[in-house]
Amino acid sequence: MERSLSMELVRVTEAAAIASARWMGRGLKNEADEAATTAMRNVFNSIPMQGVVVIGEGEMDEAPMLYIGEELGLGSGGPSVDIAVDPLEGTSIVASGGWNALAVLAIADRGNLLNAPDMYMDKLAVGPESRGKVDINASVTDNLLAVARAKNKDIEDVVATILNRPRHQKIIDEIRRSGARIKLIDDGDVAAALNTAFDETGVDILFGLGGAPEGVIAAVGLKCLGGEIQGKLVPQNDQELQRCIRMGLDVNRVFLMDDLVKGDDAIFAATGVTDGELLRGVQFKGTYAESHSLVMRAKSGTVRFIEGRHSLKKKPHLMMED
Ligand code: FBP
Repeated sequence: MERSLSMELVRVTEAAAIASARWMGRGLKNEADEAATTAMRNVFNSIPMQGVVVIGEGEMDEAPMLYIGEELGLGSGGPSVDIAVDPLEGTSIVASGGWNALAVLAIADRGNLLNAPDMYMDKLAVGPESRGKVDINASVTDNLLAVARAKNKDIEDVVATILNRPRHQKIIDEIRRSGARIKLIDDGDVAAALNTAFDETGVDILFGLGGAPEGVIAAVGLKCLGGEIQGKLVPQNDQELQRCIRMGLDVNRVFLMDDLVKGDDAIFAATGVTDGELLRGVQFKGTYAESHSLVMRAKSGTVRFIEGRHSLKKKPHLMMED
């Protein structure tokens, strides 16, 4: 996969972020999602690559764009890749103007991304120091202690992050009993998983159930950063269980980094839509929009933060269309 593809992919997430940021706080999450999806698709189709969406916005009959199996890119000549997209990770966040909404994507060589079904995945994510030292089948307390040891901290100094959902009450209670601290989030566990690999975010470990597709995207990001995510599919009903069986996915299996994304020929790109610990959201400055992105390659381990200024005069399609 060519290095120069990284910059092309940032253009994709920038466009999606700018389009959806226009909807911030307007209470219209579907419109924000649609704006991101349309922008992402348009820019993808200007890139010399042969991509197939393996993680997208639903099945072909459910979603008009970026559906699983959709081909993206200019086609012949470019690299053949699997694409995982979440044009707007945190639709409700944008609707309310909250924290940590991202436009995000990941690509890997064809066949190298887990085709995760759209259901819950139990996740455990950590940054590089704690890689290889945690185990999703161990207790919450044991994992917190492992992270404390790995980071040379007291457990009281460890910060766990988890989606604020009733289904997580037992985990939250155990974190509190252990003495560790918690950052509860309303949405957006891709950003939360990445945050575990950046010291400045103050987050050490992510627990809990979130979307399985988001788990694969986070795995590519953490692979680039030397961190780790482990996941187990958690079907919520018989239909989802049957789906796993049809796809040959064992619900008792722990998916490790190489199961989620094989090898290291993979690229991750994200642009902040709303402000977060790691990336600022899109700022509209009158004549231009400012974007803040992160792009990383697993093979080289290069991590780039990119600030973009986008002329709204020269690119009028970045203006709100209503
Ligand atoms: P959307 O952008 O699709 O709304 O996803 C937001 C999100 O918070 C994800 O980050 C997370 O994996 C999932 O939803 C959690 O699902 P639920 O809201 O059902 O707990």
